[in-house]
Amino acid sequence: MTPVFEPGQFDALARRDFGRAPQAFRHTLHQRSMFDDAALADVLDRYPRDKLGVFTMGDDPVDWRSWRRGRAGDLPGAELLKSVAEGRIWLNLRAANAALEDYDALAGEMFGALQAEIPGLKTFRRDVGLLISSPGAQVFYHLDVPRVTLWHIRGQKRVWLYPARAPYVTDAALERIVLKETAEQFDYMPDFDAGAAVFDLEPGDLLHWPQYAPHRIVNGDSVNVSLSCEFLSPAALVSANAVYADALARRRWGLTPKRRGDWHPASLAKFALARTAKMMGLEPSPPEPLPPSFVVDPRAPGAVGPLAG
Ligand SMILES: [Fe+2]
Repeated sequence: MTPVFEPGQFDALARRDFGRAPQAFRHTLHQRSMFDDAALADVLDRYPRDKLGVFTMGDDPVDWRSWRRGRAGDLPGAELLKSVAEGRIWLNLRAANAALEDYDALAGEMFGALQAEIPGLKTFRRDVGLLISSPGAQVFYHLDVPRVTLWHIRGQKRVWLYPARAPYVTDAALERIVLKETAEQFDYMPDFDAGAAVFDLEPGDLLHWPQYAPHRIVNGDSVNVSLSCEFLSPAALVSANAVYADALARRRWGLTPKRRGDWHPASLAKFALARTAKMMGLEPSPPEPLPPSFVVDPRAPGAVGPLAG
């Protein structure tokens, strides 16, 4: 098997900055036949259909409320792929590594390679999501609570990465997301682009960015295939729980918390507080998922057809 990374990329500087600044590397996964059309159609047939994320969206990067969830029905994988190629569809096979043995093996290889290149890196709660999306489709401005590596496989896309601080994301906005009071998408202003790092991804490119860094993505004029690999490290877990405790302090107790470094004693105390709150069942229930409002139909404009009934 070809090594996951082209050699010689992870020098002392790259290792020091891993997760602290936006970084691009080169990988080799795009050369594997498991990402050609026939293999992707097969994956779409094997992946649990009820877990398949199906979305469409408008053109305006500010209008994140145009994000709509749909259903794929029982369309065969090959028809779904055709709908992606000709329509305006975003397919998300979240945690493909938990559902499919070959993706589980792939996840082991990817995270194993990362940990081999970054001494001291420990990853857990690993989630390898397969993204298959239409020419011109976009993902609105949002942030993810775990750390993310984006492994680009097919097509071209542009990624904007924004600093993980105000005004791009305020502490209060981050707390709302960690507390699951709101979706991961939140308000974006085109002015923010002046502060963004912009990457034009080609097959074989890998991006990593600091935890909570907002980002948005617009596909080029091609079908896009990527792997979004989320994970937690010990520091990322402490941080997410500290933010959770801040959220409780602000919402429930009317305090004005201050965020500290991941290993600051205050962060560790907040981590313990958040874990206790979760164990006591104080965790709020997650918001209702967006109700489906369309069905994938290769004959409809954008492959977005009306829901029956
Ligand atoms: Fe993301």
